[in-house]
Amino acid sequence: MVSGRGSNLRALQEQAPEYGYGIIGVVSNNPAAPAVDYARAEGLAVHVIDHRLFAARAAFENALVATLDRLAPDVIALAGFLRVLGTDFVDHYQGRLLNIHPSLLPAFPGLDTHRRALAAGARVHGATVHLVTHAVDGGPIIAQAGLTVDPKESAVALGARVLALEHTLYPYVLGRWARGEVAYH
Ligand code: GRF
Repeated sequence: MVSGRGSNLRALQEQAPEYGYGIIGVVSNNPAAPAVDYARAEGLAVHVIDHRLFAARAAFENALVATLDRLAPDVIALAGFLRVLGTDFVDHYQGRLLNIHPSLLPAFPGLDTHRRALAAGARVHGATVHLVTHAVDGGPIIAQAGLTVDPKESAVALGARVLALEHTLYPYVLGRWARGEVAYH
């Protein structure tokens, strides 16, 4: 599920053969997302569900659920999906809804993580793949990738280095998931 740039989608797609999983559909709330253009160019099945066409979040999420349930995925990977998902949605996909977050959770949940990590003097930083629960950025952690922070680097430079980690971490986790090797409690 995507909303924007789609660099994680690209990484997931490019590394799918290596890791043995397949992307059976791409769902976007944003028809203008570069991720949608990429997915179409790759011949992936794209489902655009524009949240602006729905009066209430519940109706938007019902449409998401209807589409996703038709696809019947083993796992749903949020990859820069920029809408908050409500409790009914999260409950419906409990245990098979993943997100990637650009920090070493539980440090720096929320937005603007790279600037905040630098401002806090963090020595290490990175990315986390976690299960989505009702706690925003707070579900069980599945895997993390870390790097050493250079206190003199900019938030943009740090963010680019973390993004490169994301592009190896997320496909790795999906590969492990596909082989049934992910367990959590
Ligand atoms: C990534 O930084 C990811 O960690 C966060 O949203 C961003 C998505 O980037 N959840 P992209 O659309 O995959 O390029």
